[in-house]
Amino acid sequence: MSSTTKVCIVGASGKLGQYMVEHALERGYEVVGVCRERSVPKLDRFAGRITIVPGPTNDPDVIRRAVAGCDGVLTVLAPWGVQQYSSGTAQAVLDHAEPGARLVFSCGWHVARDDQDRYTRRFLATVRLVAWLAKAVRAVEIDDQVEACRRIFASDRRWTVVRGSDLEEGPSHGLPVWSRHVGDPVLASNLTRRVDFALFMVAALTDDTVIHEAPAIVGRETPSALAHQQGGTEVEGAS
Ligand SMILES: NC(=O)c1ccc[n+]([C@@H]2O[C@H](COP(=O)([O-])OP(=O)(O)OC[C@H]3O[C@@H](n4cnc5c(N)ncnc54)[C@H](OP(=O)(O)O)[C@@H]3O)[C@@H](O)[C@H]2O)c1
Repeated sequence: MSSTTKVCIVGASGKLGQYMVEHALERGYEVVGVCRERSVPKLDRFAGRITIVPGPTNDPDVIRRAVAGCDGVLTVLAPWGVQQYSSGTAQAVLDHAEPGARLVFSCGWHVARDDQDRYTRRFLATVRLVAWLAKAVRAVEIDDQVEACRRIFASDRRWTVVRGSDLEEGPSHGLPVWSRHVGDPVLASNLTRRVDFALFMVAALTDDTVIHEAPAIVGRETPSALAHQQGGTEVEGAS
C-alpha cells in the first residue's frame, strides 16, 4: 500500500478499535472510524486526526459511506444483542468495500475455520454454556459471529479473519505468533495483549500471506510461543 493508505475501522470506539486507530495513525494512514452515535465521545482524543461516521455498524448505508475510497477495512465483529449484529456488519462490509480492498475481521478462537481446529471438551462446553446464557438474556449472540465468519470464508474478497485468544491489557509484546489451527501446541498459553491483537489486525493489511487465512493468535512472549521458538518448530508469523 502507498503512504496515502486510507483505512476504515468499523467498531473504532471499543477497546480493540481504539488500539487499531492508534496503530493505523502511527503508520501514517488516513483513518475513518465507525461507531455508534453514543460512543463518539470515546474517540475525543483522536479529534482532528480521524474522520468519524457515526451509526450502527450493521447499517449498510453507514458502512457504504464509511468505506468509500478505503484501501483497507478493519472490522471488530461484536455479537451484541439478538439482532444479527456481527453478520449484518460483516455483510455490509463485504457488500460495500472497494473492489480489491484488504478486509480484516476480528473474532475469537471459538470460530472454527475447518475440521482441523481442535478444541478441548471443556472449551466447547464453556462456549456452549456462555452462548446459551448470553442469548437467553438477549445480551450476546455468539452463533451470529460464527455466521458472520461463515459468510466471510465463503467470500472471494481479500479477507483475513483474526481469531483472538483470551485477552489482557498491558504494554505491547510485539506481533503475536499464529497458527492455522486452534489446538496447536504453540497456542496453549491462550493469552494475547489486546494492543497486540490490534497490531496483528493492522499488520495484516499489508501482509498478503494471510489473505484467505484465519490465523489463531497468541502473545509472542507467552510460554507456549517461547517454547516453540526455542524448540525451532516452525510457527507461522513467529519471525
Ligand atoms: N474479550 C475477549 O477476551 C476476546 C477474546 C477473543 C477475541 N475477542 C474478539 O475481540 C474483538 C473485540 O473484543 P474486545 O473485548 O476488545 O471488545 P471491544 O474492543 O470493547 O469491542 C466491543 C465492540 O462492541 C461494541 N458494542 C458494545 N456493546 C454494544 C451493543 N450493545 N450494541 C452494539 N455494539 C456494541 C463496541 O462499541 P461501542 O464503543 O459503541 O460500545 C465495540 O465496537 C471481538 O471481535 C471479539 O470477538 C475478544
